[in-house]
Order: sequence, then structure tokens, then C-alpha cells
Amino acid sequence: MKEKLEQIKAEAIAQIRAADVPERLNDVRVKFLGKKGELTAVLKGMKDVAPEERPKVGQLVNDTRAAIETILEESKTKMERAIREQKMKEEVIDVTLPSKKNIMGHRHPNTIAQEEVERIFVGMGYEVIEGPEVEYDEYNFEKLNIPADHPAKDEQDTFYINKDIVLRTQTSPVQARIMEQGNLPIRMISPGRVFRSDEVDATHSPSFHQIEGLVIDRNISFADLKGTLEVFAKELFGPETKTKFRPHHFPFTEPSAEVDVSCFKCGGKGCRFCKGSGWIEILGCGMVHPHVLEMCGIDPTEYGGFAFGVGLERIALLKYEIDDMRLLYENDIRFLKQF
Ligand code: DAH
Repeated sequence: MKEKLEQIKAEAIAQIRAADVPERLNDVRVKFLGKKGELTAVLKGMKDVAPEERPKVGQLVNDTRAAIETILEESKTKMERAIREQKMKEEVIDVTLPSKKNIMGHRHPNTIAQEEVERIFVGMGYEVIEGPEVEYDEYNFEKLNIPADHPAKDEQDTFYINKDIVLRTQTSPVQARIMEQGNLPIRMISPGRVFRSDEVDATHSPSFHQIEGLVIDRNISFADLKGTLEVFAKELFGPETKTKFRPHHFPFTEPSAEVDVSCFKCGGKGCRFCKGSGWIEILGCGMVHPHVLEMCGIDPTEYGGFAFGVGLERIALLKYEIDDMRLLYENDIRFLKQF
């Protein structure tokens, strides 16, 4: 019996030595120590051993098992270490090599301008709200007092999805949507993309961006509108900037105005930038028309407010002295990198 065990041990050691991968070691473990393994077979043969011999033989079997297990463990550890070392050798990193340069993105001039406008108005307590780009005719036109025969509703000016749905031609419909929700007072700006059926040229694009502004509260006057937009212009174009309100017409405001700022290039003396006038037009605005308030469920005898709409591209072009709007959409990295 003793020889038999010695033989099993020697055989197991030989197979462990011959194993070249950890899986082979496992095979050896199963073959010798497993349920159907050779050592177990010896244990099963114990019934043929004289009873007084049994403890001794049992001890021998256990010693053999322990010896094989120890050698198996050692070999496994050694093998795994060797594998790890080999892997480390193969994966050596030369930290002196120059790194790969990631091409980093860059904020688009439109985005920079939009964030600047948002910063100014958020600083004055406004919320920034988004509205849908695909809009009901009702919000884009009707609720803003724009009658059915208004030229803005011409197919030349508007992309119709169907009779009732359009690609919004302005961000003003967000005004109606917010007023309808009825959470007063309101102080919000709403930047976003708008669409008009225009040919592309230096100052036109079928898709561009506006930022709408709306304030609704009790006791809001034209003075509030003027003060707000003056602060806005000074923040955006510098503290020397003057503003000028010219009477204008918009269907959803009454009275309405267009706002010019003194040319920040020449300070108002007149230059090529402001086409000699000293002034640059930047936005439309006015006091929200009582009928618009009514259509949106607000009582015009109690509440009133003002609104304004700024062209985002116009601001970006002015701020960065870009003379062709198409440059903003061509996505030429060499151009965009400059801002
Ligand atoms: N939505 C107008 C446009 O696209 C701009 C505008 C004018 C917006 C006056 C306003 C406003 O909110 O009060 O031409």
C-alpha cells in the first residue's frame, strides 16, 4: 500500500512538473485528488486493509494528499507569477514617448454669444426656458396677434409642415406657451432655433437663432423695458454703450420699438461698421399687447409686461466682427478656432 501511494505521489509530481498552463494543473488535481481520483480509489480500498492497519494507512493517504496539494499550490503560484511577469514585460510603457494629441472641441461663436446673453439675464433673475422648434400655427401666429393675412404667414416666409403646424419662424411662441401656464409673475428668456424660407446670403439663412425675453407682472412700465435693455446692452457691448428706442410695429406688442446701440467700433461717430450712422440695430421689443395677454388667459387690467426678441447670430457677428453669416454654419475649424 505504501509503495502504491509513493507511486501515485511520484506520478502526480511528474504530471505537475509537465503542466504548462494553470488549466493542466487543475486536470492533475481532478485526476489524483478528485472524487473519482486515484487517492480516493485507494481510500475506497481500505475495506481490504486489516482493521489495525487502517489508521496508519489513512494517515499515509492523508499525507500523500497534503503533499500533492502543496506541490500543486506552489506550482500554481509560480506559474501565475511567471504569466504576470511575462505580461508586464509585454506591456511595458515608454513614458518618454510623445502623447497622442486629442483634438479638443471648441465653443461655437453662437454658443459663446448665447451663454453671454443667458449670463446677463440670469443675473437679473430670469429663467431660461426652451420651446419646441416644430410649433402650432396657433402659437407661432394666432396667439401673437398675427392675423391670417399677415405677410409673415406667406409660404415664402414660413416652412409649413401642414395647415396647422410650422417650423417656428420666431421664438415668440414661447411667450404664449409660458403665459398660458399661468404661473405669474414671469421673467424668462428663451433661446432657440427658428426657421424662415429665406435664401442663404451674407445676412440670411433658412435657419438661425433668436433669444426671446418676457416679463409679466403687476405695474410693469415701458421704463422697466428701457432700463432692462440698457443694462443688457451695456453688459454685452461695454459700459459706454448708449441705446436708442425707435418706434416700430410688432403685432404682439403695443407700443413697440426697435433698439439700436451706439456703434462700439467708433463710439457713435460713424464708421464702416455702422455704415456711417453711429448706431447698430440689435433687437425688437415692446409692451405685451393686451389682446395677447387675454388670449393667453391673463387679465390685462391687472397684469402687464414687456417682451423682446434678439437675433443670436446678429449678436455673434457684431461681437466678433464677422461680416458673413455663412461663416457661422460652414464649420471650418480654422475659422471657428478664432473665438
Ligand atoms: N419675433 C420678432 C421677430 O422675429 C422679434 C420680436 C419683436 C420679439 C418684438 C419680441 C418683441 O418679443 O416684443 O422679428
